[in-house]
Amino acid sequence: MMAEPAYRIVDRLRIDEAAEINQLIRDLRATPATIEPKYFYDELGCALYGAICQLDEYYPTRTERAIFQANRAEIAAAMGQVDTFVDVGAGDCCKALSWLPYIEPKRYLAIDIAAPSLDTALTKMAPEFPGTEMLGLATDFSKKLDIPPELLAGRSLLFYPGSSIGNFTPDRAVDFLSQMRRYATGGLLIGVDAKKSKARLDAAYDDALGVTSAFNLNALRHINRVIGSNFDEKKWRHIGQYNEVHGRIEMHLEATESQDVDIDGMVRRYEQGERIHSENSYKYSEAEFSAMLRQAGFADVTVWTNEAKAFWVFYAV
Ligand SMILES: C[S@@+](CC[C@H](N)C(=O)[O-])C[C@H]1O[C@@H](n2cnc3c(N)ncnc32)[C@H](O)[C@@H]1O
Repeated sequence: MMAEPAYRIVDRLRIDEAAEINQLIRDLRATPATIEPKYFYDELGCALYGAICQLDEYYPTRTERAIFQANRAEIAAAMGQVDTFVDVGAGDCCKALSWLPYIEPKRYLAIDIAAPSLDTALTKMAPEFPGTEMLGLATDFSKKLDIPPELLAGRSLLFYPGSSIGNFTPDRAVDFLSQMRRYATGGLLIGVDAKKSKARLDAAYDDALGVTSAFNLNALRHINRVIGSNFDEKKWRHIGQYNEVHGRIEMHLEATESQDVDIDGMVRRYEQGERIHSENSYKYSEAEFSAMLRQAGFADVTVWTNEAKAFWVFYAV
């Protein structure tokens, strides 16, 4: 007899599937064309993101980890008792692993659009934390963060590391922070990338090994599977550059030759040099992001950083 898995995943992915697909088709046919960053994260995309985090050039992951390590006890004391630890955009759940032994929550809730990643991570984690109830919520939170109330018990801490908040425009980021605040009875622990030199940022998002390029191009393969389009990734190239005016990294896919692509039964011509905008990653000063947290309704904001002030870890309640 097969043993019951020691975790449970609630699948809310299919709820708005038709609307999501229509939106994707509209975005690809539009000029300029865009792709929402959530389309990076099929199984290969999740693995490529894991590889990006190990690159020398990609400082955010190791800088955030170092800030957590250097301030673990102080951050844990600020957060106080946590009953439900909610990992928003959990991916492989690696970052939560370092917190769970400290916090010992009654429940861990990992939320992500990539259901297979949740499954793999929770399978591994459940036996390691027998005293913590392990839950997954497979959902797309890009339009709205909707957490069924029965998945939250007691004081809930929302954990949103990796500067994923940078994928939203500043207005939408404030809106998403407000949405998280509704659930964050035990506060929000969030990692945010700091503004820094263009050279350092450009290298982080266009690495020498081409891993970020593969991550960006893989979105086209994922989209082909989702809507049956016929993008040929060999006819596109990765662009990842810091836009100093907007204070954001922009990732684009640029057509290396003119081409026709079948998108849901209609041909879209992309001219050579035309770009599909696939991601923004906004960078913030400490003052800018503190102000956004307050605008979202958080009254009490504490920040930790490293000596170079390369990354911020905020706890807001
Ligand atoms: C940049 S990774 C961060 C992973 C991990 N939290 C970390 O900091 O290393 C972003 C994660 O958010 C998930 N994600 C992206 N867009 C999402 C969406 N709209 N809804 C739910 N999850 C999403 C991705 O699948 C991915 O696991």
